[in-house]
Amino acid sequence: MALLRSVVVGCGSYLPRQVVTNADLETRVETSDEWIVQRTGIRQRHIAGPDETTSVLGAQAAKAALDRAGLSGADIDLVICATSTPDHTFPSTATQIQAMLGIETGFAFDLQAVCAGFVFAVATADRYLATGAAKRALVVGAETFSRIVDWEDRTTCVLFGDGAGAVVLEAREGDGTTADRGVLASCLRSDGRHRAKLYVDGGPGSTGTTGKLRMEGKEVFRFAVGSVTDVIEETFRASGTTAEDLSWFVPHQANRRIIEASADKLGIAREKVVLTVDRHGNTSAASIPLALDAACRDGRIREGDLVMIEAIGGGFTWGAALIRW
Ligand SMILES: CC(C)(COP(=O)(O)OP(=O)(O)OC[C@H]1O[C@@H](n2cnc3c(N)ncnc32)[C@H](O)[C@@H]1OP(=O)(O)O)[C@@H](O)C(=O)NCCC(=O)NCCS
Repeated sequence: MALLRSVVVGCGSYLPRQVVTNADLETRVETSDEWIVQRTGIRQRHIAGPDETTSVLGAQAAKAALDRAGLSGADIDLVICATSTPDHTFPSTATQIQAMLGIETGFAFDLQAVCAGFVFAVATADRYLATGAAKRALVVGAETFSRIVDWEDRTTCVLFGDGAGAVVLEAREGDGTTADRGVLASCLRSDGRHRAKLYVDGGPGSTGTTGKLRMEGKEVFRFAVGSVTDVIEETFRASGTTAEDLSWFVPHQANRRIIEASADKLGIAREKVVLTVDRHGNTSAASIPLALDAACRDGRIREGDLVMIEAIGGGFTWGAALIRW
């Protein structure tokens, strides 16, 4: 049966200029390169300078994705920016990116699902494209978590980094089979009862301040390995594919141990796992498009490959999407 699929026609990313290594952090808090590498797999992260706001990072990534697709801003009629670190409370970062790219048609909005934001944004854009409500969507994940991290708290500040990634999705007719290019299936979940395990202790409607990130790391770890596999299995089921059909597994990059435990549980071979957490740290909603772009640029992900993206974030929110590249 013919239907509209959301096909990835371009991918791009952008990282701030400044690199902060684990050794640099040893001078700020009581920590060690050995502890950070052993517990998380992180070796370095990029940190935004004062002029590198979330919209600036996002616009650079979006421009790279458009260039890769051979398109310009005039070809886009939907911009979704997944972020928890917007430049301002409002207007949305998506509208700022829209303006920076000279996009004057269609509509733009931010989507907030913390680290799961990019998966939620891809699934949301897919619905607009599949119904014909938009033709080409720019889906951006952009974050400056360095601005909301408590730099005195060694249990969290070593984990996060800044950056942005983007994909251009284009509505194209498919046959309705798993051979189609595009988003084949997605599955989203959330459960607000877990708020206290990962949250920011401020906001415009409560304290009137931005607040700082707080986390019960062990609890998040346990939930991440336990639940993210459910949405992945459901996505496989919904699409009629299995872990064996997968070309690449591109998970949210928070912790190497979480990623490898999830892959093992799902029977996904380690060589199919794309890992960038060592170089980027946890960049929240930006981590998946950053990893996708890295794997596209080094020639791993190619047209026709079957790619599973998945993430979990504060809330909790979690989800997965299967894409025929
Ligand atoms: C945060 C995380 C790396 C901590 O690893 P862990 O093995 O659970 O470590 P613990 O929290 O049990 O801490 C172990 C010890 O290391 C210490 N420690 C914590 N941070 C440290 C740091 N940066 N450097 C050195 N020691 C540190 C703790 O104080 C604790 O010391 P104690 O045993 O004397 O009390 C891990 O829990 C994790 O990755 N959780 C998930 C986080 C995540 O992915 N969040 C984002 C989701 S989107």
